[in-house]
Amino acid sequence: MQKITSAITAIGGYVPEYRLTNAILETMIDTNDEWIKTRTGVEERRILKGEGLATSDMCIPAVQELCKKRGILPEEIDCMIVATVTPDMVFPSTANIVCDKIGAVNAWGFDLSAACSGFLFALTTGASFIESGRYKKIVIVGADKMSAIVDYTDRTTCIIFGDGAGAVLLEPSTDDNGIMDSLLKSDGSGRNFLHMKAGGSLKPASIKTVEAKEHFIFQDGQPVFKAAVKGMADAAYDLLQRNNLTGDDIAWLVPHQANKRIIDATAKRIGMSNEKVMLNIQRYGNTTVASIPIALAEAYQAGHVKKGDLVCLAAFGSGFTWGATLIRW
Ligand SMILES: CC(C)(COP(=O)(O)OP(=O)(O)OC[C@H]1O[C@@H](n2cnc3c(N)ncnc32)[C@H](O)[C@@H]1OP(=O)(O)O)[C@@H](O)C(=O)NCCC(=O)NCCS
Repeated sequence: MQKITSAITAIGGYVPEYRLTNAILETMIDTNDEWIKTRTGVEERRILKGEGLATSDMCIPAVQELCKKRGILPEEIDCMIVATVTPDMVFPSTANIVCDKIGAVNAWGFDLSAACSGFLFALTTGASFIESGRYKKIVIVGADKMSAIVDYTDRTTCIIFGDGAGAVLLEPSTDDNGIMDSLLKSDGSGRNFLHMKAGGSLKPASIKTVEAKEHFIFQDGQPVFKAAVKGMADAAYDLLQRNNLTGDDIAWLVPHQANKRIIDATAKRIGMSNEKVMLNIQRYGNTTVASIPIALAEAYQAGHVKKGDLVCLAAFGSGFTWGATLIRW
C-alpha cells in the first residue's frame, strides 16, 4: 500500500490594518526606535482595533482565503484546529466559533494551547489525522490577538507583540511531499518565566487581580531569550541531523518571529544564510501562534517556495514549548 503523507495544499494569512509603529510607542512609553530595532528587530506591529472584534475575526479571512485559493467550500472541511493563547472565550473553543461563522457545518474542531509553538503542535496533530486515512481536509489555524493581553505601560513586552492569523489546509498525498518529520518538546518548569497570572482556575478573575494587572503577559525576558536561542536552534539542528540533512539541503527556514537575534542564532546553528530565512518580524512583531503561518503564507505568495523544496519550521514559546518541522513542498 502506498504511504499517505499530509501535504499543505493551500495557505491563507490575515493581519489587521492598524500599524502600531515604534514612533507611536515612543509617545506611549520610555523607549526609542533604535533600542527596539537593535534588541528585537521589530519596526511595527498590526493591532486589531474595534469593539467586539476577537481572534476568530482574524481566523475567518485567513480560512476563507485558503478555501478560495483551493477552490473548496467550507462544508468540505472535516476538522479545524485553532492554536491560540487568546481564544475569543475560555470556552467554547475558537475553532467552534470559526466553523459556525464560515459555515463549516460538517467539521468538528478544537483549540490547542502550546503558545508560540502551537502551530507546529497543531500541524503535527492534524498531519496524524490525515495519515491515519480517516480525514481528507483538515484546517490548521494559528491566530492571536496579543493586544488583548499586552500591558501598554510595560515597555519590556508591549514592544514585542502584535496581532494576526494564518491558516493552512492539510490533505492526503502519495507524492512523497508534505510533513516529513517533527521534533516537538515541552518542559513545564519554564512556566514561571512567561505566563498570565490570573484568569485561570488557579487565580480566577477578581477586582484584586485586575488591579494587580495580572491579566496581562508576565515575562522575565532574559531567561526566555536564553532558552529560546538554545531550544529553537537545537530542535532545528537535531531534526535535520536525524534526517541526514544539513542547512544546504533546506530551501527555506521559516522560524517563529520572536526576536531577530533568536532567529539569527537558529539560522547560524544549522548553517543557513540570511537569504534563506523568512523574516517579517520588522512588520508584524511577534504574533505568537500566527507568526509561522503568516510567514509561510507570505513566502508562498511571493513565489519563494517551489514544489520539491525542503522547508524547515522552528518555534519556541511559553511553557516552555519548542520544536521543528520538516516539510517537502
Ligand atoms: C525582552 C527582550 C527584548 C529584552 O532585551 P534584553 O536585551 O534582554 O534587555 P534587558 O531586559 O537586559 O534590558 C536591558 C536594558 O534595557 C532596558 N529596556 C527594557 N525594555 C526597554 C525598552 N522597550 N526600551 C528601552 N529600554 C528598555 C532595561 O530596563 C534595561 O535597562 P538597565 O540596563 O538600565 O537595567 C529580550 O529579553 C527578549 O527578546 N526575550 C525573549 C522574548 C521572547 O522572545 N518572548 C516570546 C517567546 S516566544
